[in-house]
Amino acid sequence: MKILILGSGGREHCIAWKISQNKKVNKIFAIPGNAGMQQISECFDMPIKKENFKSILKFIKNNKVDFTIIGPEAPLVDGIVDYLEDNGHAAFGPSKSAARIEGSKVFTKKFAIKNNIPGAEAYFFKKNEYKKAKDFIESLDSSTYPWVIKADGLAAGKGVLICKDRLEMLGALNDFFIKDIFGRAGEEIIIEEFIEGFEVSIMCICDGKRIIPMQTAQDYKRIFDSDKGRNTGGMGSFSPLPFVDSNLQKKILDRIIFPTFESLKKEGINYKGILYGGIIVKDNEPYLLEYNCRFGDPETQVVLPRLNSDLLDILMNASNGNLDSTELIWSAQKCVCVVIASKGYPETSSKGDIIYGVKEHSNENDIFIFHAGTSIQDGNIVTNGGRVLNIVSKDKTFNGAINKIYSKIKSINFDGMQFRSDIAKKVAEN
Ligand code: GLY
Repeated sequence: MKILILGSGGREHCIAWKISQNKKVNKIFAIPGNAGMQQISECFDMPIKKENFKSILKFIKNNKVDFTIIGPEAPLVDGIVDYLEDNGHAAFGPSKSAARIEGSKVFTKKFAIKNNIPGAEAYFFKKNEYKKAKDFIESLDSSTYPWVIKADGLAAGKGVLICKDRLEMLGALNDFFIKDIFGRAGEEIIIEEFIEGFEVSIMCICDGKRIIPMQTAQDYKRIFDSDKGRNTGGMGSFSPLPFVDSNLQKKILDRIIFPTFESLKKEGINYKGILYGGIIVKDNEPYLLEYNCRFGDPETQVVLPRLNSDLLDILMNASNGNLDSTELIWSAQKCVCVVIASKGYPETSSKGDIIYGVKEHSNENDIFIFHAGTSIQDGNIVTNGGRVLNIVSKDKTFNGAINKIYSKIKSINFDGMQFRSDIAKKVAEN
């Protein structure tokens, strides 16, 4: 079989690695892929934007691709799965109408309120309601801070701002509605109560009728140790979460994930693909923060290495609406991922810095190096973006995995590399 993977991050490299273990697969293509994916797939540097869907379909036909897996959210929200399926090609991911669960935070929040899914108290404002939004902010008592402002549309992970006081919140409102920093994605906003707690990421595989939860993970969003500094796309992750016991997991599924899936069905949306719930837990009670319509990054890099079942079969069954006899078998091992980012990230990122110590060491002794922002230049692996490498390890204990990763990182070097030194340390004793 010939498989095409769209995307270029650590998530897509991890998916390609996992898919490559299926004996039926004799060729993997990636658009655009990265330097690591080139070791196991043939990569083509082509944009995966809506304007290019036609060229992607042509590529699929010319190369007799059997099945396409879509990594990032933007093409899903733009309807790539509908487009490919309408043209007779099988693809993994939700339809355009289902992908609104990530593409529109307003849609999802209103849907959650209507279906009694627990979450933060929320207020909605359109761009032409600037004055109303400002008056609302000015009416908030200072003791109720922080509050959260969210852009409705996709904003590359930057559309959620936590504001600690009125000044910050009015500034954020200006950024959204006056300076237009998020363009169309910021034309409607949600102002939400801030819920303090710990986060749980839970990715579920869906075939339209059935939903199967995968194991839990947690990611680290801030750039610096102890959750300091700016938000990033994710600086590390670990799985499973020892502090999510079966009782809490049941609450997350029964109160949030399963009712969402069933309510979507009632609205005529047969959700296929990954439904990723971002949950916050306060006083042992779960609340929905957000949904994503695809695999999480870097959660995928710690969940898939623990999956003992065949990933491609699962994804194809999901796409065919046939997960009835699918069972997910999990390793009891613990898995940790540390992201190495480039100089200046997250404000800027670097291109072209030579990365030493990676080529010869990929994926051995339960240490996996999943590439993200890398490319090949003059025979060298070089940086090509903000998040560059994902160093992942599996072990009987978190401590074992953490030690393997940080000792591996000592042999990797490039100008300005940065990484967190506290990933998974809070669960090291498990
Ligand atoms: N780790 C968060 C995300 O994938 O959006």
